[in-house]
Amino acid sequence: MSKEQKLSTESYKGVRDFYPEDMAIQRYIFDTWAKTAESFGFERYDASVLELSELYKSKGAENEEMVNEQTYTFIDRGEREVTLRPEMTPTVARMVAGKRRELTFPLRWYSIPNLFRYERPQRGRLREHWQLNADIFGSHSSMADAEIILLASEILKGFGAKKSDFEIRVNSRKLWNAYCDSWKLSDDQRKNISGLVDRKNKISGEEFISSSKTILQDETIHQEFCALMDGTSSAQEKPEHAELMNVIESLHALGVQSATYDPTIMRGFNYYTGTVFEIFDTNLDNRRSLLGGGRYDNLTGLFGGDPIPAVGFGMGDVTMRDFLESHSLLPQNLQGVDIAVIPMSEEYVAPAEKIAATTRAAGKKAYVSLADKKVGEHIKQAEARHARAIIVVGEEEIASGIFTLKTLADGSTTTGSIEDLLK
Ligand code: HAM
Repeated sequence: MSKEQKLSTESYKGVRDFYPEDMAIQRYIFDTWAKTAESFGFERYDASVLELSELYKSKGAENEEMVNEQTYTFIDRGEREVTLRPEMTPTVARMVAGKRRELTFPLRWYSIPNLFRYERPQRGRLREHWQLNADIFGSHSSMADAEIILLASEILKGFGAKKSDFEIRVNSRKLWNAYCDSWKLSDDQRKNISGLVDRKNKISGEEFISSSKTILQDETIHQEFCALMDGTSSAQEKPEHAELMNVIESLHALGVQSATYDPTIMRGFNYYTGTVFEIFDTNLDNRRSLLGGGRYDNLTGLFGGDPIPAVGFGMGDVTMRDFLESHSLLPQNLQGVDIAVIPMSEEYVAPAEKIAATTRAAGKKAYVSLADKKVGEHIKQAEARHARAIIVVGEEEIASGIFTLKTLADGSTTTGSIEDLLK
């Protein structure tokens, strides 16, 4: 770089700078996630963003598209291949397997990690996102599946969403595998047809039909496949269907009416073994899924010992913010302080600091305006900083001990001693 060339102020493509207004929204989202997860008894854990790459490549854990095209992987100075985590599930499986003898199951754990995926940045998809992960380890019960989906639904309601704002679509990998078994598909056919179903919403109807025909080859099987996809098949005959309906009925009993069976929900990860689900915004401008998850009973088996059954989901912050914006659910006043204390001139800075300290001691947020300007400019700054009220400190106020608290939203004023004003 020549001396004249200046560094760019842009961040690396697809990752995020959080200026205070973005940070306020992110904190609100994280706090709401954490509050609801903890209200269900979930405990918080965390881990490093760096993992050995082998964690994502082991048979049973791998997601080919992710490993081959989306991970940030490099060799460290000690010749080890490491990856910036693209998801949290392998990490939490590793942690649970590592302490399996000390932990008391079932576990309810949650985390809010940042994840990195080398994707083409677009609406709802970036190269860095944060994801609430909530998982239950150590229960085979279908009630655990239902509870996990209930938690996801309660989180959305915790943001003020109505039931009609989102829909929960549930499928079962077991049911899907039973179909693949009955069609006697080869490993390649299974992989290709599952991948195609996973991409269904990204391609045209014609392409979906013609590609599935090419993969399945047999006309009768293709017809059964199409009937399954459009919901006209006799899935009810399979015992795996009854198991899935059990989860959906439990959800209905828990008041989650918007959960329905959707045979096209596949989920890209190989580790899912049973229930899989996604939640979609009903607002057509925001078609990406808000969250996805499912049951993965074998993943901990990668680390030796009997596998510990698990079910959970990941909910991203990017799609969450889009959802809140598209339904006007973001609260006002996420930023700001309660009181800006404005000294009339330099000599009143010290008494203003005292007033700010008293304000903080009363549990309110306050700062002393340091603008070296006229009172009008101080007030403009206070508005820009989202201060809810101001107190001006000058000769008269100090002499009398009587101050005026002005609320900026409506211009109303209250007069009295600082102690009275803070009541
Ligand atoms: P996933 O479907 O890959 O699942 O991601 C879950 C959610 O994370 C998505 O629905 C979306 O909200 C968000 N997300 C994913 N990729 C991006 C991206 N590039 N940019 C912005 N948001 C994104 C998993 O990761 C599973 N490990 C979830 C899980 C936990 N299953 C069981 N437990």
